[in-house]
Amino acid sequence: MEDSDSADHSAGKTTKAERTGTGSAASGAGERDHFDFIVVSNRLPVDRCSAEDTGCEDGWRRSPGGLVTALAPMMTKTDGAWVGWHGAPDETVEPFSHGGIDLIPVQLSADDIELFYEGFSNATLWPLYHDVIAPPEFHRTWWDAYRRVNRRFADAVIGNAAEGATVWVQDYQLQLVPKMLREARPDLKIGFFNHIPFPPPEIFAQLPWRRAIIDGLLGADLVGFQRSSDAGNFMRSARRFLGASVKQQQVHVKGSDGQTTHIARAQAFPISIDVKQITELAKRPDVIERAEQIRRDLGNPKTILLGVDRLDYTKGIRHRLKAYEELLQDGKLTVKDATLIQVASPSRERVEQYRLLREEVEGTVGHINGTFDTMESTAVRYLHHSYPIEEMVSLYLAADVMLVTALRDGMNLVAKEYVTARKNNDGALVLSEFAGAADQLKQALLMNPHDIDGLKDTIMRAVNMQPGEASRRMRAMRKQILDHDVDLWSSDFLAALAEKVVRDDS
Ligand code: F6P
Repeated sequence: MEDSDSADHSAGKTTKAERTGTGSAASGAGERDHFDFIVVSNRLPVDRCSAEDTGCEDGWRRSPGGLVTALAPMMTKTDGAWVGWHGAPDETVEPFSHGGIDLIPVQLSADDIELFYEGFSNATLWPLYHDVIAPPEFHRTWWDAYRRVNRRFADAVIGNAAEGATVWVQDYQLQLVPKMLREARPDLKIGFFNHIPFPPPEIFAQLPWRRAIIDGLLGADLVGFQRSSDAGNFMRSARRFLGASVKQQQVHVKGSDGQTTHIARAQAFPISIDVKQITELAKRPDVIERAEQIRRDLGNPKTILLGVDRLDYTKGIRHRLKAYEELLQDGKLTVKDATLIQVASPSRERVEQYRLLREEVEGTVGHINGTFDTMESTAVRYLHHSYPIEEMVSLYLAADVMLVTALRDGMNLVAKEYVTARKNNDGALVLSEFAGAADQLKQALLMNPHDIDGLKDTIMRAVNMQPGEASRRMRAMRKQILDHDVDLWSSDFLAALAEKVVRDDS
């Protein structure tokens, strides 16, 4: 049986301006004592940068990835603080405000970055949680660093959280933080959201520290996942590796004295995007004009295909290029009529698997272009850059076919952004069934990216889709996303976290 408290985590609390006494949202987070609401993630929404980096303003630029895309809109409207790493090794930065958000930086040394971030987070957990597409590496020194750094994030929260505050911990880099918070501060309401998939117990079993990870996550009152299959996988692991008794996706968690400390729940909360921002940009004359210019600059091809990804082996970029190259070879597509724009934003460049992927993708693009380009037309316009959201929306408006061919993806917000930008209900989305977004975007052209012939057929269906069918599909997908934007995601999660849960064990 459950009953509901207020979902408004700032209700009855002082406002930003009241607490700083300045009336200004630009004052530093350092002026506060304690916060009633704290988000904690590995990265802050902004990263340290230098003047020569694209998008760098006043020494800061937007951090990469879907997590920031999803959380930043809520945090600009919320009276809370964001604890995270600011992207530069060995630099101590005092709490500050940026873009209307109070930020509390956590310092990582060059060693922490190598062992905790590049090592355990991105060469152990990342491949393990993404269907072992790349082989995960298990090193005890990396695990030690993971524990040490998780403790530092937990301490930063503990030092800044008001009595009874709500703390929302984000993603796989910080899975030990919920339990660390629970032990030090039982007064806190603790939520956790995993932005990436959670693997089935048969794969999770490989992790030497599987019990500690499950135990860490069960420190939360509510553990959120992208898909219900992820929540199910987590609870099956809790049962198998900790012997937890799971009923209706709930576990009674016991302290060292054997007494129940709290009930931890697991549930799916599919993440979304800032619909208002994308729809407004898609209507802006300069953004529309830029989309037209992109098409002109490419020589006015009949069909523009688009891929937008972090340069990551989970995104299926190699499979996409293979299918596209074969379509050119087969003569089903020609460079006069079609161009593929592939935006591959730089990511985790010091991790070996990412270095290898970049070499392979760039070699393949060079090979395709060398074989098929003419003086007038190019097969693949490859861009190893990150772009501001305005440019991304222009690309979405220019693209007739969007290719999302992930081999495994927690959600994939690019798919949702593309659909949202298509205000005229045209264009086609080719979407991998292994992306979380496939659960919501059922009218996309769903496919298995491992099946290259199937992928080729699906791309051709998208290229040749009749306007009536395209419009029917796009309309249905847009309705789904417009009705489920990121504000609803965060308010649903926080409302569920605020619920008082009583489990009937009879
Ligand atoms: O959502 C997955 C995620 O790893 C986020 O946690 C992260 O912010 C984003 O992708 C980008 O990855 P990174 O922080 O390693 O550059």
